[in-house]
Amino acid sequence: MSTHPTLPQTQQPGPEAAERIAQHRRYLMCRPEHFTVSYRINPWMEPARPTDTAKALRQWQELHDTYLRLGHEVELIDPVPGLPDMVYTANGGFIIDGRALGVRFRVPERRGEERPFMDWFAAHGFEVIEPVEVQEGEGDFLLVGDTILAGTGFRSVGDSHREVADVFGREVVSLRLIDPRFYHLDTAIAVLDPVQGHSGVDRANIAYLPTAFDDHSRAVLAERFPDAIAVSDEDGAVFGLNTASDGRNVIVSPRAVGFIGQLRDRGYIPVPVDLSELLLGGGGIKCCTLELRG
Ligand code: ARG
Repeated sequence: MSTHPTLPQTQQPGPEAAERIAQHRRYLMCRPEHFTVSYRINPWMEPARPTDTAKALRQWQELHDTYLRLGHEVELIDPVPGLPDMVYTANGGFIIDGRALGVRFRVPERRGEERPFMDWFAAHGFEVIEPVEVQEGEGDFLLVGDTILAGTGFRSVGDSHREVADVFGREVVSLRLIDPRFYHLDTAIAVLDPVQGHSGVDRANIAYLPTAFDDHSRAVLAERFPDAIAVSDEDGAVFGLNTASDGRNVIVSPRAVGFIGQLRDRGYIPVPVDLSELLLGGGGIKCCTLELRG
């Protein structure tokens, strides 16, 4: 294990760091040019509270630049006036092997985003599959190995889990969310390393917030991911789980202090980026990021 003489003891990378491998990522993002909170579709949104679009843009830019600095690719979709939530591109669809399942929002306020996202996918060489059932894209579908973890309870309906299984021919594990603050799966589970066991060190490839799930889902998670990182309510409440990981670097809210320590202990490199302004809309790092799996 290599040590960093300049770092204090608490910031030394964990023993597994040398074996965590960063994988190249291609992401879709959308500049929050029209960001505001003008309606309330989750408990974080307070239309009466002022938002600062310039600040949202600065924070978003830092996330964007961090991805580039880490060697990832970022594609951009044009923001549409009147669609303030379009910055949360994770909800734009779900893409595996160049095939993009479009989104069909539960919430009417965001339906105007469905066509622009599908058009973007088509224009960029993806095969587009028009969805039948209501689901909110990568907000509720997360790929771990060959398995799709699928959330329901607030936004995506249970029938969409069957549809996503049919479309992609993969195993789907349904998980039920029970806390309205964690209304999308990507607010309660972070996929740290989608290639199961690939680092050869442990199976801590996901992190999750146990209290966000019903008893059955919690049992399923505990059984399938015995080495997962269980995150505290405190870190969950600052959207600590809404992260993007390349298998080594984990972009995470600086306010999720305990989780940052857990990540470091498991050999990941936490990269803090603050999206406090975008949290006023009920979104964070992962929400602003859609993975384009070619
Ligand atoms: N205001 C947006 C909504 O409620 C936030 C979406 C957050 N996205 C996510 N992937 N969790 O739909």
